[in-house]
Amino acid sequence: MAKLNFGGVEENVVTREEFPLQKAQEVLKDEVVAVIGYGVQGPGQALNQKDNGINVIVGQRKNSKSWDKAVADGFVPGETLFEIEEALQKGTIICYLLSDAAQIEYWPKVKQNLTPGKALYFSHGFGITFNERTGIVPPAEVDVFLVAPKGSGTSLRRMFLQDRGLNSSFAIYQDATGKARDRVTALGIAIGSGYLFETDFKKEVFSDLAGERGTLMGAVQGIFAAQYDVLRKNGHSPSEAFNETVEELTQSLMPLVAENGMDWMYANCSTTAQRGALDWWKRFRDATSPLFEELYDSVAKGAEAQRSIDSNSKPDYREKLEVELAELRESEMWRAGKTVRSLRPENN
Ligand SMILES: NC(=O)c1ccc[n+]([C@@H]2O[C@H](COP(=O)([O-])OP(=O)(O)OC[C@H]3O[C@@H](n4cnc5c(N)ncnc54)[C@H](OP(=O)(O)O)[C@@H]3O)[C@@H](O)[C@H]2O)c1
Repeated sequence: MAKLNFGGVEENVVTREEFPLQKAQEVLKDEVVAVIGYGVQGPGQALNQKDNGINVIVGQRKNSKSWDKAVADGFVPGETLFEIEEALQKGTIICYLLSDAAQIEYWPKVKQNLTPGKALYFSHGFGITFNERTGIVPPAEVDVFLVAPKGSGTSLRRMFLQDRGLNSSFAIYQDATGKARDRVTALGIAIGSGYLFETDFKKEVFSDLAGERGTLMGAVQGIFAAQYDVLRKNGHSPSEAFNETVEELTQSLMPLVAENGMDWMYANCSTTAQRGALDWWKRFRDATSPLFEELYDSVAKGAEAQRSIDSNSKPDYREKLEVELAELRESEMWRAGKTVRSLRPENN
């Protein structure tokens, strides 16, 4: 582990320099990594590991688009692609990448196949942290750990193919074999992480649930919608409102922030823009802080987890989700966005 300084605070992290791919291959050479679930994370993690020379198989229910996708991606039925139960038997490391709700349903079958010495791997602290609600309590004789990529499985794969890396956290919940740290670090490197930072299951799930409900997804859509509506109410065209709210941010400004930080983005904008942003950002912080506090409390008391379990366990959850996504898609702002995207020169 390397000790690095983050904003004045020291943290232990694992970089690819100190734990190169060859070391990961060596640690995992006798393992069968069974990726259970081929949804969003499954493909990214399974394909990256396969390309990195790890012995990986996929477990996925048949008669599903996800099964067909695994076949199209090169996994061979009966050789590297199996029904979930068969993959659970064959795997020595079980990467449990079903949706968090389906993990509850399948847990009895997973538990049955967790013979001593195997490892149970998650990409989220959800099932274990909220085990009073999920019932996921692993046997004592297996390693239990997580690697949680900080991004979509789609990005994990895309960035791997671009020779980049998506940062991930890792945590060890149970080290039954004495090899948990090596195993989890090797997996983190093999799935294509940038650097790995250590956390625990509870912190992982609390920060993840807060982050996605907050700035990463919920809050960002909320402030987009608020600004867009105010501009529209004041007579601005959809084109103007969308460009000033979303397009400029995603196409021009966020890439600058990604490259070199917020101050650098500010430094590359007009002095008029800088003055306004410097005057207003603290007001937005102060206005939204109470909401973020409320959100964190809701996560910490388990209410967000329960809501997720309840809604995602329903048989018709996909249909209901589609209705809510359609509401976003059909809103004027995102319909305007579709047109704006179609006008990008690279799309013509
Ligand atoms: N999405 C991300 O990018 C992301 C990022 C970081 C961490 N994670 C974590 O990674 C894990 C996997 O998440 P995900 O987003 O990849 O999940 P997902 O896309 O929802 O994957 C669903 C997988 O679960 C299967 N599944 C769903 N319901 C099932 C059921 N009732 N019976 C059998 N299989 C069922 C799906 O098969 P079918 O297609 O056949 O339904 C598919 O293989 C979760 O712990 C999540 O928190 C995800």
